[in-house]
Amino acid sequence: MIRALLATALVAASLQGSFLKPAEHGEMIYHETRIVACAACHGTRAQGQIIAHYLDGNQSRTLYAPPLEGLSLEAITRGLARHELAPRYHLSDQEIENLSRYLAR
Ligand code: HEC
Repeated sequence: MIRALLATALVAASLQGSFLKPAEHGEMIYHETRIVACAACHGTRAQGQIIAHYLDGNQSRTLYAPPLEGLSLEAITRGLARHELAPRYHLSDQEIENLSRYLAR
Protein backbone atom coordinates (compact mmCIF):
# COMPACT_ATOMS: atom_id res chain seq x y z
CA MET A 1 0.00 0.00 0.00
CA ILE A 2 2.70 2.47 0.99
CA ARG A 3 4.65 1.43 -2.07
CA ALA A 4 1.69 2.12 -4.35
CA LEU A 5 1.17 5.53 -2.77
CA LEU A 6 4.81 6.36 -3.16
CA ALA A 7 4.78 5.33 -6.80
CA THR A 8 1.70 7.48 -7.44
CA ALA A 9 3.32 10.45 -5.76
CA LEU A 10 6.46 10.02 -7.83
CA VAL A 11 4.53 9.82 -11.09
CA ALA A 12 2.48 12.89 -10.14
CA ALA A 13 5.65 14.85 -9.30
CA SER A 14 7.40 13.95 -12.53
CA LEU A 15 4.30 14.73 -14.61
CA GLN A 16 3.96 18.14 -12.98
CA GLY A 17 7.53 18.95 -13.89
CA SER A 18 6.98 18.10 -17.54
CA PHE A 19 4.02 20.42 -18.09
CA LEU A 20 4.85 23.92 -19.18
CA LYS A 21 3.05 26.93 -17.78
CA PRO A 22 1.59 29.17 -20.53
CA ALA A 23 4.29 31.83 -20.08
CA GLU A 24 7.00 29.15 -20.21
CA HIS A 25 5.54 27.88 -23.46
CA GLY A 26 5.56 31.49 -24.70
CA GLU A 27 9.22 31.79 -23.73
CA MET A 28 9.99 28.68 -25.78
CA ILE A 29 8.22 30.13 -28.82
CA TYR A 30 10.06 33.43 -28.39
CA HIS A 31 13.48 31.83 -28.28
CA GLU A 32 13.12 28.68 -30.34
CA THR A 33 10.35 29.12 -32.91
CA ARG A 34 10.66 27.16 -36.14
CA ILE A 35 12.24 29.02 -39.08
CA VAL A 36 13.88 31.98 -37.25
CA ALA A 37 13.53 32.79 -33.56
CA CYS A 38 11.88 36.10 -32.65
CA ALA A 39 14.89 36.72 -30.42
CA ALA A 40 17.24 36.80 -33.42
CA CYS A 41 15.71 40.10 -34.54
CA HIS A 42 13.83 41.54 -31.55
CA GLY A 43 16.63 40.80 -29.07
CA THR A 44 17.08 38.21 -26.34
CA ARG A 45 15.08 40.33 -23.88
CA ALA A 46 12.55 41.56 -26.50
CA GLN A 47 14.14 44.99 -26.09
CA GLY A 48 14.23 45.71 -29.83
CA GLN A 49 17.39 46.23 -31.84
CA ILE A 50 18.92 47.38 -35.08
CA ILE A 51 19.18 44.47 -37.49
CA ALA A 52 21.11 46.15 -40.30
CA HIS A 53 22.19 49.36 -41.96
CA TYR A 54 21.95 49.42 -45.72
CA LEU A 55 22.04 51.75 -48.69
CA ASP A 56 18.90 52.48 -50.67
CA GLY A 57 20.35 54.31 -53.66
CA ASN A 58 22.30 57.07 -51.90
CA GLN A 59 20.11 57.00 -48.81
CA SER A 60 21.48 55.20 -45.79
CA ARG A 61 18.71 53.31 -44.02
CA THR A 62 18.36 51.32 -40.85
CA LEU A 63 16.33 48.18 -40.38
CA TYR A 64 15.02 48.11 -36.83
CA ALA A 65 13.04 45.41 -35.03
CA PRO A 66 10.88 47.21 -32.43
CA PRO A 67 10.72 46.19 -28.75
CA LEU A 68 8.00 43.66 -27.92
CA GLU A 69 8.04 43.81 -24.13
CA GLY A 70 4.57 44.30 -22.70
CA LEU A 71 2.75 44.40 -26.05
CA SER A 72 -0.90 43.37 -25.85
CA LEU A 73 -2.22 40.20 -27.43
CA GLU A 74 -3.87 42.33 -30.15
CA ALA A 75 -0.67 44.23 -30.89
CA ILE A 76 1.29 40.99 -31.25
CA THR A 77 -1.33 39.45 -33.54
CA ARG A 78 -1.45 42.62 -35.65
CA GLY A 79 2.35 42.97 -35.72
CA LEU A 80 2.89 39.40 -36.89
CA ALA A 81 0.28 39.81 -39.63
CA ARG A 82 2.10 42.95 -40.83
CA HIS A 83 5.59 41.44 -40.84
CA GLU A 84 6.99 42.21 -44.25
CA LEU A 85 10.61 41.20 -44.05
CA ALA A 86 10.22 38.67 -41.28
CA PRO A 87 8.16 35.52 -41.59
CA ARG A 88 4.46 35.54 -40.62
CA TYR A 89 4.88 32.27 -38.69
CA HIS A 90 1.17 31.31 -38.66
CA LEU A 91 1.17 30.64 -34.93
CA SER A 92 -2.04 29.33 -33.36
CA ASP A 93 -4.17 31.60 -31.13
CA GLN A 94 -2.93 29.61 -28.13
CA GLU A 95 0.72 30.07 -29.13
CA ILE A 96 0.26 33.83 -29.56
CA GLU A 97 -1.51 34.06 -26.20
CA ASN A 98 1.32 32.21 -24.44
CA LEU A 99 3.83 34.43 -26.22
CA SER A 100 2.05 37.53 -24.94
CA ARG A 101 2.12 36.12 -21.39
CA TYR A 102 5.86 35.68 -21.70
CA LEU A 103 6.35 39.18 -23.12
CA ALA A 104 4.23 40.66 -20.33
CA ARG A 105 6.58 39.40 -17.64
C1 HEC B 1 14.03 38.59 -39.51
C2 HEC B 1 13.78 39.49 -38.38
C3 HEC B 1 12.55 39.29 -37.52
C4 HEC B 1 12.12 38.15 -36.88
C5 HEC B 1 12.79 36.78 -36.90
C6 HEC B 1 10.91 38.50 -36.17
N1 HEC B 1 10.60 39.82 -36.37
FE1 HEC B 1 8.99 40.81 -35.64
N2 HEC B 1 9.55 42.50 -36.67
C7 HEC B 1 10.71 42.62 -37.45
C8 HEC B 1 10.73 43.94 -38.06
C9 HEC B 1 11.84 44.48 -39.00
C10 HEC B 1 9.57 44.61 -37.63
C11 HEC B 1 9.11 46.02 -38.03
C12 HEC B 1 7.96 45.88 -39.02
C13 HEC B 1 8.41 45.26 -40.34
O1 HEC B 1 9.16 45.88 -41.07
O2 HEC B 1 8.02 44.09 -40.65
C14 HEC B 1 8.85 43.67 -36.75
C15 HEC B 1 7.65 43.96 -36.13
C16 HEC B 1 7.02 43.10 -35.21
C17 HEC B 1 5.84 43.46 -34.43
C18 HEC B 1 5.12 44.80 -34.45
C19 HEC B 1 5.66 45.60 -33.28
C20 HEC B 1 4.99 46.96 -33.14
O3 HEC B 1 5.46 47.74 -32.27
O4 HEC B 1 4.03 47.24 -33.85
C21 HEC B 1 5.54 42.37 -33.66
C22 HEC B 1 4.40 42.26 -32.65
C23 HEC B 1 6.52 41.35 -33.96
N3 HEC B 1 7.39 41.84 -34.91
C24 HEC B 1 6.53 40.12 -33.37
C25 HEC B 1 7.43 39.10 -33.68
C26 HEC B 1 7.38 37.77 -33.09
C27 HEC B 1 6.38 37.34 -32.03
C28 HEC B 1 8.36 37.04 -33.71
C29 HEC B 1 8.65 35.56 -33.54
C30 HEC B 1 7.51 34.63 -33.64
C31 HEC B 1 9.07 37.94 -34.62
N4 HEC B 1 8.46 39.17 -34.58
C32 HEC B 1 10.17 37.60 -35.40
C33 HEC B 1 11.66 41.65 -37.62
C34 HEC B 1 11.58 40.35 -37.19
